[in-house]
Amino acid sequence: MLATLFSAALAGLDGRVIRVEVDVANGLPGLTIVGLPDTALSEARERVRSAIRNSGYDYPARRITVNLAPAEVRKAGASFDLAIALGVLIGDGEIRPAAGSWALLGELSLGGEVRPVPGVLPMVSVLAAAGHRRVAVPCANLPEARLVPGIESVAVASLGEAVRLVSPRSRPRVVVGGATDRAAVAVDPIADPQAPPSRSDGVESADLVDVRGQAFARWALEVALAGEHNLLLVGPPGAGKTLLARTVPGLLSPLDDDEALEVTIVASVAGLLRSGEALRRTRPFRAPHHTLSYAAMVGGGPSLAPGEVSLAHRGVLFLDELAEFDRDVLDALRQPLEEGTVGISRAGRAVRFPARFQLIAATNPCRCGYRDDPIRPCRCRPGEAEGYLKRVSGPLLDRIDCFVEMPRVPPHELLRAPDPESSEPVARRIAAARAAARERNGGRPNAAHAGRRLRLLAQADRDATRLLERMAERDRYSARATHRAFRVARTVADLRGHAGVTAEDVSAAIALRQREAA
Ligand SMILES: Nc1ncnc2c1ncn2[C@@H]1O[C@H](COP(=O)(O)OP(=O)(O)OP(=O)(O)O)[C@@H](O)[C@H]1O
Ligand SMILES: [Mg+2]
Repeated sequence: MLATLFSAALAGLDGRVIRVEVDVANGLPGLTIVGLPDTALSEARERVRSAIRNSGYDYPARRITVNLAPAEVRKAGASFDLAIALGVLIGDGEIRPAAGSWALLGELSLGGEVRPVPGVLPMVSVLAAAGHRRVAVPCANLPEARLVPGIESVAVASLGEAVRLVSPRSRPRVVVGGATDRAAVAVDPIADPQAPPSRSDGVESADLVDVRGQAFARWALEVALAGEHNLLLVGPPGAGKTLLARTVPGLLSPLDDDEALEVTIVASVAGLLRSGEALRRTRPFRAPHHTLSYAAMVGGGPSLAPGEVSLAHRGVLFLDELAEFDRDVLDALRQPLEEGTVGISRAGRAVRFPARFQLIAATNPCRCGYRDDPIRPCRCRPGEAEGYLKRVSGPLLDRIDCFVEMPRVPPHELLRAPDPESSEPVARRIAAARAAARERNGGRPNAAHAGRRLRLLAQADRDATRLLERMAERDRYSARATHRAFRVARTVADLRGHAGVTAEDVSAAIALRQREAA
């Protein structure tokens, strides 16, 4: 008998409805899966067989053919396991589904538990859009599934539970211990050692009250976060670059509704939503180590998962020790910094992920770290010091609006100065300036503007324009550098509550470009 069920697959951030047709017929016993399955799907065969047996059902000694349609959709992952297993039981006549159909999402363990899968949010969305009214999902994925309106999402912990949902009257012939009962199942991805951590940083957040001295760098960070300008901090070891960056999570405004949905979808597809987590409200802060691979940065791997640039979407990507990253990895940032998206492909499959992030980076000025230090001599070989920052390519530096030198903090400032301002009031100023900028700019931050549009938005007075002109001429700014200073001046004006950019705003912005020539 032929059974037809519905499930879904992922293509980038989008779900695709998959029709799971299972034919159980007399013939040589075996299970064949057709419809471009990858290795994960051939493994599905083993999981389905064991899960059915261990849930107390007979596994049919017949010829079973599974077709996953449409054939042209490349399928990866294990989200169809549950639909295939139910299809086998229905096709064999072991269970009889009640009226009304269920869509099913979930990976099966050999014992018959239903395991969480990545991308439940976009997969349930596409099922709802295709007119499905009910979907069974793994327990840990229920909160994200329930974000989708117009479809009833129900959690199932085991194949047995899914059977009872689809066919309330059926009972397994033999009850073996284990997975037929929710109480026996521990579905907790937090406890799952394979579940990746939700943040790459491992970096503990800090408060600005802990950052002594560095008034200029503190202010630069405030400007950068207010206008979403990319920022580079340069300084000797121990100046507090990493410490300052650790204050960023506490300075970021929460996500609005649309951003929250985008960030949650990326986290869902990456399998990084924690058990029971629904909508993400905190702006991402990602701090990958400089040894990370190209694929980890841009995305990829067998399942074409999003990388750091996408996990930082709508938030901050912090690259500590910038010059130590592989050149390839840094070059890969150009496309996302320019377009706000990243394209990846593997084995003929291509997907595009969002990647609109703010870049904050820190580096020593040279390999030994003491170039231009007033006290300690630089120990680099001749020529080596100059070459160090050149490792970071020009096109990447071109995208950085603010450059800040952080000298070493003198001991008396570390030990005797009164407590500086804490993060809270700074976060409030940043949020207000960000809101003002977005309101004026049609929802986009100051960092996203150039050319005529920027001139309109800046509403600069005559003195401001003249000053910028003079500076640009004197220091031979490129058009890009001129726009950069103008953008930053617009943010300074926002922080100071100026409707239009003044000459003081321009000179403050120019001070944030110290390292332009590096
Ligand atoms: N400005 C500062 N205020 C208070 N403490 C500081 C400051 N700068 C450094 N420290 C102390 O020194 C430690 C090291 O600083 P941090 O790691 O931020 O330096 P860094 O500039 O990132 O150096 P490196 O170039 O070696 O990475 C901090 O954890 C903190 O305890
Ligand atoms: Mg550091």
